[in-house]
Amino acid sequence: MLLRTYILNTAEKFKEAGLFYGHGTDSPLDDAVYLVYSTLGIGFDLDFERSDRVLLMNELEILEARVEQRLRDRKPVAYIVGKAWFCGHAFDVDERVLIPRSPIAELIQNRFRPMLECPPETVLDLCCGSGCLGISCALEFVDARVEVSDVSADCLEVATGNIRRHDLIGRVQCTKSDLFASLADKKYDLIVSNPPYVSLADVETLPAEYQHEPKLALLSGEGGLAIPLEILRQAGSYLNPGGLLILEVGLGAEALCQRVPEIPFLWMDFAQGGDGVLAIRAEELHRYREYLI
Ligand SMILES: C[S@@+](CC[C@H](N)C(=O)[O-])C[C@H]1O[C@@H](n2cnc3c(N)ncnc32)[C@H](O)[C@@H]1O
Repeated sequence: MLLRTYILNTAEKFKEAGLFYGHGTDSPLDDAVYLVYSTLGIGFDLDFERSDRVLLMNELEILEARVEQRLRDRKPVAYIVGKAWFCGHAFDVDERVLIPRSPIAELIQNRFRPMLECPPETVLDLCCGSGCLGISCALEFVDARVEVSDVSADCLEVATGNIRRHDLIGRVQCTKSDLFASLADKKYDLIVSNPPYVSLADVETLPAEYQHEPKLALLSGEGGLAIPLEILRQAGSYLNPGGLLILEVGLGAEALCQRVPEIPFLWMDFAQGGDGVLAIRAEELHRYREYLI
């Protein structure tokens, strides 16, 4: 069978099955391309519609098993192929970590301009999961020292593999920490965080694809706001003067504004889609601390 026929047939099956997209792709066709190309090690620059590549029997067997897994288990393609793309870089992923997809990628690619005027010397990726945010910052800011931290030892194992994959051992450090608990006395120019921010009620209504992701990566108490609020309470003490916190709160943005209307968060706009990411400086975190108690 021709590669292009197989991809188009697979996309049709995905469409009929009503799968959910949002873990690195946004359509049945993109999902099918992601699965087939990653499985066969084809570069994403190949235009399958113009290709006469024929699939071998053994390739077809592997693909059929994976397509079946996607359809039957509703498992996101990134977990099936063990790889996700973020900020243009490849990351190893499995079901111990959230699949990278934060819109913060766009801010990293834009070097956090105009909020950051000069490159940060020290960066913390708090709640790092696969390490995608911190590692992408390290690749963008080649002189920065980066720390990635998570409460989950499983996540740190995956993040360590990704640090090695990108040849960043020595410049990116991994620390096991419950939020800031094990980071005492440290200060950073930039903290980036995509923490858990989904309420229990919302988690239960998420499509089956999300149920493959660790609950620890999604769930946060107080209607989703507990962890973001705790980060806002503490982050000022871990930032250098002029330092910047970039925090994703997703759908919690409205609830956060209602909870602390006094704080003038700067909400990010994204050309590539996404929302619910705020920026705030160390000085403002100190100034408005009383509203966060
Ligand atoms: C939404 S995931 C984000 C992962 C990664 N930053 C990304 O963007 O793909 C949230 C991460 O927070 C971690 N986490 C949950 N509670 C935590 C806590 N109290 N302290 C530190 N990390 C925590 C989870 O293990 C998970 O890896």
